[in-house]
Amino acid sequence: MDFQYTEEQMAVREAAREFAQNELLPGVIDRDEHQKFPAEQIKMMGELGFLGMMVKPEYGGGGMDTVSYVLAMEEISKIDASCSVSMSVNNSLVCWGLEKYGTAEQKEKYLKPLASGQIIGAFALSEPEAGSDATSQRTTAEDKDDHYLLNGTKNWITNGSSASVYIVIAQTHPDKKHKGINALIVEKGQSGFTIGPKENKMGIRGSDTHSLMFSDVKVPKENRIGDDGFGFSFAMQVLNGGRIGIASQALGIASGALELSIKYAKERKAFGKSISDHQAIQFKLSKMATEIEAARLLILQAAMKKDRGESFVKEAAMAKLFASQTAMDATIEAVQIHGGYGYVKEYHVERLMRDAKITQIYEGTSEIQNIVIARELLK
Ligand code: CAA
Ligand code: FAD
Repeated sequence: MDFQYTEEQMAVREAAREFAQNELLPGVIDRDEHQKFPAEQIKMMGELGFLGMMVKPEYGGGGMDTVSYVLAMEEISKIDASCSVSMSVNNSLVCWGLEKYGTAEQKEKYLKPLASGQIIGAFALSEPEAGSDATSQRTTAEDKDDHYLLNGTKNWITNGSSASVYIVIAQTHPDKKHKGINALIVEKGQSGFTIGPKENKMGIRGSDTHSLMFSDVKVPKENRIGDDGFGFSFAMQVLNGGRIGIASQALGIASGALELSIKYAKERKAFGKSISDHQAIQFKLSKMATEIEAARLLILQAAMKKDRGESFVKEAAMAKLFASQTAMDATIEAVQIHGGYGYVKEYHVERLMRDAKITQIYEGTSEIQNIVIARELLK
């Protein structure tokens, strides 16, 4: 692996860091406390090109590589993981799949506004009774010749109320099991499509997580992505890239916690010296930093393999598994290093700890990442 970032990659990281410090940090505590969706901030992210980073410029994107995306995700996640989850979903689960598998008409109509950040998208795979067990789709897309009739409920959908376009996974041919599933593009406002109330969550409280209900929603055939029955393979492929995005989110949460902890440990005095002079605190910092570097290298390995067009299924799963555990461990230690101040909102680390937990759950739980890794090893 070449560990040297290019000038362009470093410029992207700097732009993301500046944006996060100037535009996301003010108000992040208030947005978390009051569960406010960061609509203004996401709009700005679209204007700056953070929502379609890897899409070709001809479709309104930034034409960048996955490494640049990882660096930007880390910087934005250091400050506000509610913003970075919208960014990850739009880039990885919506735009990437549409660019790779969409028709020319789908790219013109949907990808262009999504990649340029005029609108945002959502990806709806999970259901009340099908989360990890994603092949057991209950939502049905009945084939009615020129359209599909969509019925069912999706759970926990990120960008649930703020999206304009939804990629919905549904079963068309139950006898064919996962090979009968389709991925359909559904627009907000279609008759029979309703959105449930916002979930009241432990972390990423700004992010708008909703259930989606479909009752006889007519989806034109031209809104199917790929061939009949390609939907599950489509979902798994976008999730491989998505897992790099969420691993980068976890990395950002962890490295944000480390930066705050180093600063605080140097400032806070106990027993006549800075707490950073106590070896117990130094060892916490060194463990956090070492695990963060290891997570970063796993993520970069997956990103580089993706950019080279090689298989990165195992590497993405390893990166997410390790980075999400690192985020959890590092944020717990960050709260400990901050003592009582770590337990109150002004010091940010308690929010980072709450936000870290979701990275072990969505886009495949840690248990599912272990299954993916083991299956790749034993193939
Ligand atoms: N990449 C490509 N293909 C994959 C794959 C991967 N990572 N994982 C599975 N597949 C393929 C298999 O090769 C198989 O295809 P074939 O039959 O053509 O060989 C097919 O998918 C079914 O796989 P399995 O037979 O292994 O099925 P399974 O039911 O035993 O296991 C699973 C499948 C891996 C557990 C899968 O259901 C899974 O990944 N579950 C987790 C779901 C998930 O990640 N949800 C995230 C929702 S989006 C989200 O969360 C967004 C957000 O928060 C912001
Ligand atoms: P379950 O699958 O019921 O799992 C419960 C527990 O059992 C977990 O610990 C799990 O690891 C374990 N388990 C399950 N099967 C096995 C097994 N075979 N071996 C060992 N352990 C197992 N989904 C979307 O489609 N789109 C989104 O945008 C989206 N955003 C989300 C945002 C938030 C805030 C949340 C909370 C969830 C989101 N999800 C989204 C759903 C998320 O992907 C699922 O919650 C996740 O995949 C787990 O599914 P589940 O909640 O049904 O848990």
